Amino acid sequence: MSEFDKKAETFTDQKHLEHGKKVANGLVKIINEEILKNNEKVNILDMGCGVGSVAIPLSLLNPKFIIDGIDPSIKMIEFFEKRVKEEKVERVFPTFQAEPKPENKYNIGYTSNVLHHIEDISGFLKKIYDSLLKDGQILIVDYEKSPISHLFHTNPDSSLVHPSGFSKEELQKFLVDANFKDVKVLDFGSIQRKIVDENKNESLETFNFLVATGFKHD
Ligand SMILES: C[S@@+](CC[C@H](N)C(=O)[O-])C[C@H]1O[C@@H](n2cnc3c(N)ncnc32)[C@H](O)[C@@H]1O
Repeated sequence: MSEFDKKAETFTDQKHLEHGKKVANGLVKIINEEILKNNEKVNILDMGCGVGSVAIPLSLLNPKFIIDGIDPSIKMIEFFEKRVKEEKVERVFPTFQAEPKPENKYNIGYTSNVLHHIEDISGFLKKIYDSLLKDGQILIVDYEKSPISHLFHTNPDSSLVHPSGFSKEELQKFLVDANFKDVKVLDFGSIQRKIVDENKNESLETFNFLVATGFKHD
């Protein structure tokens, strides 16, 4: 059982669902107007979709959106499928799969809170790049590096590869190096979390989020 299978259920709690809604509302504001205007249907890939906490609310924000969520954790996908069935969610399709299928091409590829778990970031971004149609857009959401960002994950977690998150410059460089054009990295809101230090002192800390976006123009 993978690390994510073990903790899949924790992603169905209210805190994660609220965060997912917030991410979906933020993403929809950054999605390129031309993509929305020029396409009758907007095909979207959610890489590392988890239990669908972003994909489901995102699908409700525009009837043109058709979202394929893929994830290498079977448990995450099972919770996602359960929700799709119970809530009669339309135009959202979870699949247990680590890589996008080469025959599926998308107008938009996004990922939320996944990049800090990825060892081979350039390989991961290439998979999204290859799955996009010409002029397709990538959106990467993750938390911003800061002196306290390593505290974002309070429990020990073997799946964490970049525990401090990323700086704006790092995200910019990842996307430019992956051949994305018109790359921008924007502030994407923040969340507060209670942190308990080694002396059991509690404090409320703010963690900022970033969204990196760019286009596949060739
Ligand atoms: C912190 S969860 C985020 C889930 C969801 N995107 C969200 O925002 O709620 C990270 C997810 O990334 C998935 N993941 C881990 N490695 C991955 C990879 N190489 N490719 C795609 N997804 C991956 C995990 O299975 C897990 O569901």
